[in-house]
Amino acid sequence: MRTDHQREQGATAGGAPGHGVTAVAHPNIALIKYWGKRDERLMIPYVDSLSMTLDIFPTTTTVRLAPGAPADSLTLDGSPAEGEVRRRVVGFLDLLRERSGRSEPAVVDTHNSVPTGAGLASSASGFAALALAGAAAYGLDPDRTALSRLARRGSASASRSIFGGFAVCHAGRGTGAAADLGSYAEPVPVPDFDPALVIAVVDAGAKAVSSRAAMRRTVETSPLYRAWATSGKTDLAEMRVALRRGDLDAVGEIAERNALGMHATMLTARPAVRYLSPATVAVLDGVLRLRSDGVPAYATMDAGPNVKVLCHPADADRVAEAVRGAAPGCSVFTARRGPGARLTGEAER
Ligand code: ADP
Ligand code: DP6
Ligand code: CO
Repeated sequence: MRTDHQREQGATAGGAPGHGVTAVAHPNIALIKYWGKRDERLMIPYVDSLSMTLDIFPTTTTVRLAPGAPADSLTLDGSPAEGEVRRRVVGFLDLLRERSGRSEPAVVDTHNSVPTGAGLASSASGFAALALAGAAAYGLDPDRTALSRLARRGSASASRSIFGGFAVCHAGRGTGAAADLGSYAEPVPVPDFDPALVIAVVDAGAKAVSSRAAMRRTVETSPLYRAWATSGKTDLAEMRVALRRGDLDAVGEIAERNALGMHATMLTARPAVRYLSPATVAVLDGVLRLRSDGVPAYATMDAGPNVKVLCHPADADRVAEAVRGAAPGCSVFTARRGPGARLTGEAER
């Protein structure tokens, strides 16, 4: 007899109508950022990146094959999704169909606990969960590296959310199939480093310009882009050493300069892309005050106004209080390193 567990694992090559395959994945925040693609179709980044997967804000995604349906359907947080959101998911399902040699449409139901499109990495948790659940539903059985490559095709940052803890995403070399093969994430084991990330949500609204459009414009028009991409190589090498040492100050300094440099490339795009708001800057001032008061705290920001502050877990409450004082009305969350993507019912990896 076939058990529910087997069904969830996609053990019989998916496709059984009626039951879906469910996966959970968490967002990740890059300490060394990815920004810019050298191949937009294959979603190959220009630069290597390194991130921490969070233990909060999971996305839960169920994929069910629907052989009789006229087309794919997608609900995000309970509402039917249209436009660009649907187009990205359908494009991803097309890839799964191409890989599996199957043709059935799918019903996708996904729930984000992180605000969508706010610079809090919903595309990372979203496409990591979709890659895992979708691959199982279509009867594919990729190993973790292949799964990471696959998730990259949905959103490059999603390649890293396949793994828990710290992960590095290789930009790879070459073009075409070689580039595709060479661009994937893998874990960076850092057993002795377990910092807190205090997240200040100053605005949970969706960004006006998607990460994808903003990085394209940056690569095409910012005179600073190349310089930032080059200095990122040093940042990554130094970050690896700092992580191995468990040196929070070094990790924080490198992460902060790498993120500010990325925002400098956006600010010098034409027209400029500015995600940072007055509340963002107020939180950055709060972080500087913490440091001058002797509390190690370092900021990083993604494609949105929200700030993530790296600190020692023992200082997290004090950092959260400082952040609230700096940007009254913001919501504050404290994350630690979290697990990799998993099918529900499957043990954590
Ligand atoms: P973020 O900062 O949230 O990662 P992006 O601009 O990178 O913002 O990506 C946001 C887009 O990612 C959404 O507009 C949608 O297309 C896609 N996305 C977010 N969550 C999901 C999800 N759970 N399933 C599928 N696609 C998602
Ligand atoms: C600033 O991975 O969201 O968060 O690949 O087009 O989906 P797409 O973009 P996305 O870009 C992430 C940019 C970043 C930095 C990072 O996560 O490395
Ligand atoms: Co994103």
